[in-house]
Amino acid sequence: MLITAVAALALPPTGVLARAPATGSVPTPREDARADAWARATLARMSLEDKIALLHGRFLALVAPAQRPAGITVGAGYVAGNGGLGIPPQVATDASLGVSNLMDMRKGDVATVLPSGMAMAATWNPSLVREAGRMIGSQARAKGFNVMLAGGVNLVRDPRAGRNFEYLGEDPLLAGTLVAAQIEGIQSNAIIATIKHFALNNQETGRANASVELAETAMRESDLLAFQLGIEGGSPGAVMCAYNKIGGSYACENRFLLTDVLRRDWGYRGFVMSDWGAVHSTEALLAGLDQQQGEQLDKKRWLSTELLAGVKAGALPVAAVDTAARRVLRTMFVHGLVARPLATGPIDYQRDGAVSLRTAEEAIVLLKNEGDMLPFPATVKRIVVVGGHADIGVPAGGGSSQVTPVGGFAKVETVKDGAAAGFARKVWGGTPPLDALRRAFPTADVRFFDGSDPDAAAAAASNADVAVVFAEKFSTEAMDQPDLSLDGRQDALIDAVASANPRTVVVLETGNAVAMPWLAKTPAVVAAWYSGQRGGDAIAGVLAGSVNPSGRLPVTFPASTQQLPNPQLPGSGLPPPSKEDRATYGVNTNSPPFTIRYPEGADVGYRWFDRTAAAPLFAFGHGLSYASFRYDGLRVSGGRTATVAFRVTNTGSRTGADVPQVYATLPGKPRRLIGWSKPVLAPGESKVVRITADRRLLGTFDSTAHRWRIAHGPVGIEVARSATAPVLTGSAIIAEGTIKP
Ligand code: GLC
Repeated sequence: MLITAVAALALPPTGVLARAPATGSVPTPREDARADAWARATLARMSLEDKIALLHGRFLALVAPAQRPAGITVGAGYVAGNGGLGIPPQVATDASLGVSNLMDMRKGDVATVLPSGMAMAATWNPSLVREAGRMIGSQARAKGFNVMLAGGVNLVRDPRAGRNFEYLGEDPLLAGTLVAAQIEGIQSNAIIATIKHFALNNQETGRANASVELAETAMRESDLLAFQLGIEGGSPGAVMCAYNKIGGSYACENRFLLTDVLRRDWGYRGFVMSDWGAVHSTEALLAGLDQQQGEQLDKKRWLSTELLAGVKAGALPVAAVDTAARRVLRTMFVHGLVARPLATGPIDYQRDGAVSLRTAEEAIVLLKNEGDMLPFPATVKRIVVVGGHADIGVPAGGGSSQVTPVGGFAKVETVKDGAAAGFARKVWGGTPPLDALRRAFPTADVRFFDGSDPDAAAAAASNADVAVVFAEKFSTEAMDQPDLSLDGRQDALIDAVASANPRTVVVLETGNAVAMPWLAKTPAVVAAWYSGQRGGDAIAGVLAGSVNPSGRLPVTFPASTQQLPNPQLPGSGLPPPSKEDRATYGVNTNSPPFTIRYPEGADVGYRWFDRTAAAPLFAFGHGLSYASFRYDGLRVSGGRTATVAFRVTNTGSRTGADVPQVYATLPGKPRRLIGWSKPVLAPGESKVVRITADRRLLGTFDSTAHRWRIAHGPVGIEVARSATAPVLTGSAIIAEGTIKP
């Protein structure tokens, strides 16, 4: 069904024929020029009111059905179009894990749910993440959306932060590379993707009004570098500015972020939309904000009624309105929204489910496998499965990224306490692991115990060949976690089962790193994360051996919170928000204002552990395989940058993928990831891997000179299995140099 006929077949009045970009995501200079021409010509035909109409959007789910625009799919955002000028509406949906359906706003609507962002990061596979993005972008388009609020890339600084499950890990190169791939995939459907939340929104506590204090050098070498790589590689049509303050200034009116960094330094040509309820003034427009989204959640309609009044009173220049409107117009054109009208269409959920399955399979990290306990032999006769709702599905994270899976939720529990109460839901869905295990072991007796009676589960385990305990930990937007422990009394449950049967495997289904007090008792542990639509099948595949695990940790698993830069999560001791707080500080606040400091600076995650010589429980980059791999033949050359070549050989007895990682160490600095590869090798097969370092990773950001500075001198090179497991070492001399910011 065609919703809005926009692009005419004949040459439109602007004289520019609209067509979607051939490349799908990163426009060519010629496509850029055509977009500029169309935007200029269209703007010239617009009144002040027409222009301002592009700069604010409503959360349609909060609009009474009778007041909703006809024929528009209800989602997170809606910005009116202008048919007479050939401008389509901007119809936005969340988010990075699929087309979400918060509060069941589209009654009964389902979508294919991807594994979590953390899981996608654990694949270390940009082409797979790109395909996953293409799939969810195609479903968004087929449901009548042309903007996808997907591209979350805040670095995982604290393993207790509630939204880490949505993001892509702790390293700027890994996260930036993967978010670029995701954005490319999404935007290949003529839809705008939205890299978010810009910037330093690394925790939920105080997200709406805490101020992050961090030196520019530290920002540039960590969180900002992840955004910069994502923007360079994926060319997202939109950037979503975050709720929090940076240096006392809200992100959505922060000139340093939105103008100095994003436009002056990075040359970003898309537009900046706010987070929902993150705008606090009309002057935000002058700092670099272009669009207020979810305007009902703010105190005022800053970029509509307030802006019109401000321009008419001469308090705000119309030129600022033109700049913002032109950015929105140009972005819509260059990403194909003008050429390809909004329209709903069919979705092949079977085919799309296979994309989610492949992603889940590559995301699973085999953390421990003592005595090669996994994979289970096909002859295994008695399997006891315990806990984790493994009989009904797999868990997912809470908040705006939550997708109602194909087949619907198997179970929903509302969150009753804490900052996310009334907002978030605990949910389970997708293929149940228990069914998948029964299919994988058709001759075995597979019994399930829900874990509510540890003694009964332990007794059954003592009579089984093997036991599998599924352990969950809920994560959600709007709320951080108090510690690293599993929910409830799962640690005791695991201990009881593992004490009863030493051949016990633990399958972690968590949004974050977790503590494992029972680790010594369990010979095998698998991190399956929130594994999405076909998660049960992926987990069963790894346990049965039809899938050779190839996931690697995208985050460090600490041995204790005492090892963290902030042993106490910033703001965690503050009283919960009063009603006045919420009224005073606006929506989404969950505390009075406070300051967040990150002592690690740019040394996020494994870099902090390197700097403090702390031994993690499991290291960034760690992951085992059912095969084995040898690295040799290292060659390192220097000069302008470091170039590394080495050979990887599968010395095992089965095909598998490995993820050799290359780290660089500069004098006095912790190691940093400069590259990786994910070769799939048959037994005995070898491949030569070549890595060339992005020079910014070999330098430091000089905030005085306002440039990246690479010093002349030695750089240490490690080819490693993780951040703490170097295999080959070498070095090279790097030439001095500087790079623009
Ligand atoms: C939320 C989130 C953002 C989401 C938006 C729309 O509060 O912070 O990621 O895209 O609102 O739901």
